Amino acid sequence: SKRYSITLLPGDGIGPEVISVAKNVLKLAGSLEGIEFSFQEMPMGGSALDLVGVPLPEETLSAAKQSDAVLLGAIGGYKWDNNAKHLKPETGLLQLREGLKVFANLRPATVLPQLVDASTLKKEVAEGVDVMVVRELTGGIYFGKPRGFGTNESGEEIGFNTEVYAKYEVDRIARVAFETARKRHGKLCSVDKANVLEASMFWRKRVMAIAAEYPDIELSHMYVDNAAMQLVRNPKQFDTIVTNNIFGDILSDEASMITGSIGMLPSASLGASGPGLFEPIHGSAPDIAGQDKANPLATVLSAAMLLKYGLGEEKAAKRIENAVLETLNKGFRTGDIYSAGTKLVGCKEMGEEVLKSVDSQVLTV
Ligand code: NAD
Ligand code: IPM
Ligand code: MN
Repeated sequence: SKRYSITLLPGDGIGPEVISVAKNVLKLAGSLEGIEFSFQEMPMGGSALDLVGVPLPEETLSAAKQSDAVLLGAIGGYKWDNNAKHLKPETGLLQLREGLKVFANLRPATVLPQLVDASTLKKEVAEGVDVMVVRELTGGIYFGKPRGFGTNESGEEIGFNTEVYAKYEVDRIARVAFETARKRHGKLCSVDKANVLEASMFWRKRVMAIAAEYPDIELSHMYVDNAAMQLVRNPKQFDTIVTNNIFGDILSDEASMITGSIGMLPSASLGASGPGLFEPIHGSAPDIAGQDKANPLATVLSAAMLLKYGLGEEKAAKRIENAVLETLNKGFRTGDIYSAGTKLVGCKEMGEEVLKSVDSQVLTV
């Protein structure tokens, strides 16, 4: 049988709750395909700060690098919000993405027929939406220098960051996006702020240059403010979106709500080689942490992405995706996707129901 080693990073808040569900689902779906996993759980984020004083311990990064794939819950919480920057959980996450060199973040937003009623958009607007946001993940204003705090010419205190993209960074994310669009419906929209920002003008120039390698893809460009509006006006106009780190962060949260809840959206972060990082797009949800209220499906679907994009195990991935659909078909809903006539369950029970569906389904792929 095949064996893979998985680094689990439960993190903070609802992270451990959703990771525990996803781990069991991964284990079962794998075993039905003759796959065996060895899981190594490592500290990360606020829990690592409390344990060893840094948000990304060296042992955690090296374990992640040595494994076949990394599954992360979420990090962050009120307790660490006022820490110095290098002692923030979020800094640990950025160090992890940088350390694994996972520059391409795929964030699919799909409106499942079962959840049309959970969307805040009208049925006819939400129905059938299937957008893939390709977010650049290791560059832009998150990493650009100079950055920091200081004083300006008039002696006033300031905080500053730099949006910067090198040619190789735009070229490689553009290629991932064109390839992604090719496997989907052949349409790519590059989102930028090229009417104002030099970094965006350069981004657009390089995306247009790379487009020459993909004459079969229909490329368009949109300013980010318009894109934010178009996503709620008529999301079905989009197939694949490619954008920088910060715009991708914001637009993917916006896109998640079209699908019913941020608790549904998985992601895959991939580099040129080495293990991928798989995580829900949501955070540690401190407002509901420890209450068994979290929707684990974003993490469960991230585990499916891990199988598909990280390990090339498409059948096992399909088992998980099908089980999620079946569980929703049976009417089970956590609070964030609840609507009248469905069955309200907690995080654990949702996990048990998904496991039952993985176990019982007949796979037809
Ligand atoms: P959040 O995504 O944690 O929560 C936003 C809202 O969505 C909250 O009301 C929360 O209860 C709800 N929500 C999120 N995930 C849910 C789920 N699975 N099921 C049900 N409801 C869910 O964003 P925030 O409140 O802005 O941030 C909280 C903390 O998480 C901060 O410290 C932030 O830095 C961190 N964060 C981490 C990640 C990550 O680990 N990748 C991502 C985003 C935010
Ligand atoms: C995300 C989060 C992170 C980001 C934070 C926690 C650093 O919002 O994964 O979307 O901004 O990338
Ligand atoms: Mn985010």
